[in-house]
Amino acid sequence: MTFEIHDTIITFPPLVDCHVHFREPGLEDKADMQSECEAAYHGGICAACDMPNTKPPTQTIEALKDKIARASRFPDKCMLSFFFGATSLAHLAELETLWTDPTLADVKRHCCGLKLYLDNSTGNMKSSRAVTEKAFALCGRLQIPLVAHCEQAEVNDKAASERPYDGPASHSVRRPAESEVASIAEAVAMARQHRTPIHIAHLSTAGGLDLVRATRREDPTLAITCEVAPHHLLLTTEDYTCCGARVKVNPPVRPPRHHEALWEGILDGTVDCIGTDHAPHTLHDKANMENPPSGMPSIEVIVPLLLSVVAGRWPHPTAPRPAALVARQLAHGDLVRLLHTNPVRIFNLPVDGLRRPSFDLAQTWIVEEAQLHSKCKWSPYQGWTLQGKAVV
Ligand code: DOR
Ligand code: ZN
Repeated sequence: MTFEIHDTIITFPPLVDCHVHFREPGLEDKADMQSECEAAYHGGICAACDMPNTKPPTQTIEALKDKIARASRFPDKCMLSFFFGATSLAHLAELETLWTDPTLADVKRHCCGLKLYLDNSTGNMKSSRAVTEKAFALCGRLQIPLVAHCEQAEVNDKAASERPYDGPASHSVRRPAESEVASIAEAVAMARQHRTPIHIAHLSTAGGLDLVRATRREDPTLAITCEVAPHHLLLTTEDYTCCGARVKVNPPVRPPRHHEALWEGILDGTVDCIGTDHAPHTLHDKANMENPPSGMPSIEVIVPLLLSVVAGRWPHPTAPRPAALVARQLAHGDLVRLLHTNPVRIFNLPVDGLRRPSFDLAQTWIVEEAQLHSKCKWSPYQGWTLQGKAVV
């Protein structure tokens, strides 16, 4: 499936956000499935893959069934699939049962794979080395998509011990680029050993991208894919000045040379998907001066942000357009590849029959957080002028 344009209206195949945190159950003060499905709908996103760091975390078949039942309340706004999480061998045993017991086929259909955190982030779901090894082996044996949050705890711990948290900008120093690169190298080694289908979540560094390229060259039969988040494409360490804790995220925003490289990776096909890592927190949580939580929302604006780039309108109000985008244009077909074809294939998503979203390419609009549908009612893209708006 591809896109169609009539006059100023473009219609896409069902667009997918393969990385979201809708916070239900347990964290409904930040967001819930109803509010975030509404935000997805108004952003033209038709299906989303929800992460397991809820309360309780999605680490048992029972917890997964509960999420499936909750999501079935809003069948028309956004189809949800769920990642399983694991921090113990018992959780991996549950995943194995889910994948192999034919009586659970209806539950498995809603599960898009396993998410592993290789260092702590919101929810403290860091997986130990022993569980990580076993998870790669299980997902290799059963060919379960394994999504890895790649940051290396030792590198982060050392950097954090050398620089106390003294404001949002210190976050990028305390979780440095080398940490992601080292962690991706380890994850790739385990995936190669166990033949695990591996997907690198929110890849944020030039070095990480080079490792994906090198792995594909050296081991062409390995199923290795990666995703980039909008904040790593559009924001950098320079944005701490305007936006402070709002742009604190894991992995952190990086110095501009990394986002230059990520745009190269988008245009040359190294990057498979754009996943928003839509991670709402309340502004009250973000106002914590000691150490505010990491994450920001973006599901309602991701497609308009990208349509603006396609239209030749670099949306950042002050930062220059990356060199890669001066040399080559992003095209509507790239959006189909990044938000439909690749995520549907990688996570085996049942999108047939979902609505096809339309956008008015002629509509320019200003992001006004009060008008957004996400429960947290703020956006790191507040005040940005975008071109292209979902027709709802
Ligand atoms: O910044 C982040 N926020 N990174 C994560 O890994 C988790 C997410 C969240 O759930 O808040
Ligand atoms: Zn995430």
